[in-house]
Amino acid sequence: MRVVIVGPGAMGCLFASLFSKKKQAEVWLLDNDSKRAKKISDQGIIVEGLGQSFNQKVNITSQIKDIPPSDLVILCVKSYDTEGAIKQIEPLLAEDTNVLTLQNGLGNIEMIAEIVGKDRVLGGVTSNGATLLGDGHIRFGGQGETVIGKIDGRLTVPMRGIREIFNKSGFSTRLSKDINGIIWSKLILNVGINALSALTRLTNGQLLESPGTREILSQVVTEAVKIAKKKRIKLIYDDPIQKVESVCKATANNLSSMLQDILNRKITEIDWINGAIVRQGKSLGIATPANLILTDLIKAIESAYRPKP
Ligand code: PAF
Repeated sequence: MRVVIVGPGAMGCLFASLFSKKKQAEVWLLDNDSKRAKKISDQGIIVEGLGQSFNQKVNITSQIKDIPPSDLVILCVKSYDTEGAIKQIEPLLAEDTNVLTLQNGLGNIEMIAEIVGKDRVLGGVTSNGATLLGDGHIRFGGQGETVIGKIDGRLTVPMRGIREIFNKSGFSTRLSKDINGIIWSKLILNVGINALSALTRLTNGQLLESPGTREILSQVVTEAVKIAKKKRIKLIYDDPIQKVESVCKATANNLSSMLQDILNRKITEIDWINGAIVRQGKSLGIATPANLILTDLIKAIESAYRPKP
């Protein structure tokens, strides 16, 4: 199977390096920055953490024309880059190419479906934790489950093949008939952890160490759960606050992806996480004051380093 991974961030590098190392697929990494692509091509991807340290050579290019038509495209770009990335990869798409999004937040699957058609889209979430230490250099901080599904709930033969590539590369992966429930279940973890850790600059584990952050975490999660209930979304756990706290403990030393973005002065995924809860709350008539405050504060930080128009 030929797999194209779009975006050499922490997750893109993690999947590209291990799929290549375990020889599970012909892997191509697509980078929109030609200088960085050349650097990663020369040095390979450096992976450390979880008792391992290796350097893996990968096929990487910034030129879409270098890559032959592919069986699977995995989007590992930030949510605000989804539309641009999909338009860029259109030449790689054959009729039976699957496009898998493993991005955080709400709305990616719908946007991809609009452009490539519902039938070719796979949604997914991953709880593997990786931190980008430099170009093509990552720390693999925590192993977690990956879940993949289709909007219409069908489980297809190619999906089984994709699951095998992930599993044989060391990423515990399963298929789900309810990908919407899975995406919401992950969204609620990000709602509870990401903005709060980015604003306080605390690790996921440290969020549980003071009553104040615990209280805010619980408020934002409670608001999101009210919306999920109203939409009849089935979460995959019974006690959402306890679940978020258990993920904070399991990923105690992680800097959440939004904290990494803020530290690197990058635009965050706030509009797809807490901001999405605020929007949904408005349209359903559910108050989301705690999510609104976190969204506005993150946007205020972003606007301080966003180039002025
Ligand atoms: O975005 C992230 O950082 C991760 O999804 C999670 C689960 C919050 C762990 O850091």
